[in-house]
Amino acid sequence: MKKLFNIILVAVAMVGCGTAPTTMPTVTGEPFPDTDGNHINAHGGGIISHDGTYYWYGEHRGDGTPGAGQEGVMCYSSKDLHNWDNRGIVLATSDEEGSPLEKGGIIERPKVVYNPATGKFVMWFHHELKGRGYGAAQAGVAVADNPLGPFTLLHTGRVNPGVYPVNFAEDNKGKVWSDTLQWWTPEWYKAIDEGMFTVRDLDGGQMARDMTLYVDDDGTAYHIYSSEDNLTLQIAELDSTYTRHTGKYIRIFPGGHNEAPALFKHDGSYWMIASGCTGWEPNEARLMRADSIMGEWTRLPNPCRGEGADKTFGGQSTYVMDLNGELTFMADKWNPKNLADSRHLWLPVRFDKDGIPYITMEELPAE
Ligand code: DGJ
Repeated sequence: MKKLFNIILVAVAMVGCGTAPTTMPTVTGEPFPDTDGNHINAHGGGIISHDGTYYWYGEHRGDGTPGAGQEGVMCYSSKDLHNWDNRGIVLATSDEEGSPLEKGGIIERPKVVYNPATGKFVMWFHHELKGRGYGAAQAGVAVADNPLGPFTLLHTGRVNPGVYPVNFAEDNKGKVWSDTLQWWTPEWYKAIDEGMFTVRDLDGGQMARDMTLYVDDDGTAYHIYSSEDNLTLQIAELDSTYTRHTGKYIRIFPGGHNEAPALFKHDGSYWMIASGCTGWEPNEARLMRADSIMGEWTRLPNPCRGEGADKTFGGQSTYVMDLNGELTFMADKWNPKNLADSRHLWLPVRFDKDGIPYITMEELPAE
């Protein structure tokens, strides 16, 4: 009786305030329409909250016609995480020949963070230059005064040129490996582990492809990205403006072939969910844990459980949304024939009795 009375009291209070409880919807790969009824064209993205509004940024993937290029980075806004208004392109590609953002290049996995010290919204993204496929492997950085943009490109390039990772063995600095090593042999894996590609890219800067950003409780931000030909993840600290690297970075899981990193913190542990490298095809997700973001990181079994877990339920990680401690795994179900129609997977992150996070399609909350 007392419980019923409390429920009624809370319900009356909510009606009185005119507020609905905000929860993340569960999304399982069906079309996700915006408030105009169009499937949300924001892929490989993430969500931030600012002044009572949520902003979802992601890759624009054309208008659905085969071969249509990217217009830039899309933004959708919402008050309740369920109803999303299309706010258009907030970082635009350019028609100008030779522009770094010239149409025909690739923008992937954009993430935005707000920097309270500068009052700027800072976007990082995986950037490939026109005509070079995935060869440039750069990190792009753009800023805006407003979450709806327009974002202005600050710079784009490789990461931390001329600087060794802090966890790089002294003995391997400047080492020269045999150039006849065959890919995928034990000798080659050993060389990758020792940092053969880190040294290869030292002068020009480290490669940066699939990426995310993470802002820690102390306000320090990090750029986490697939580097070294997608073989090794790197975690690089950002400066106080969040627009540059400080030069402090680590390599983790050399030769582990991890893509699509998504970070979150829970009960004092840093957790990362990533994917393997199989292009647009889904594969088994990976789970990593650390006490400190700068390592040591350890690998745990697949965080997905139940039917479809061996292929991440058809998706690939992009972000973990933390809504007052309620965590949601966000992933893309890519459709390489029509990337704009790639679907969204938003599934709750649960914790088992040992405190290990897991994701399943088998205990979904009722909508
Ligand atoms: C996998 C990556 O995670 C995606 O972001 C994209 O780069 C595809 N590869 C391209 O094949």
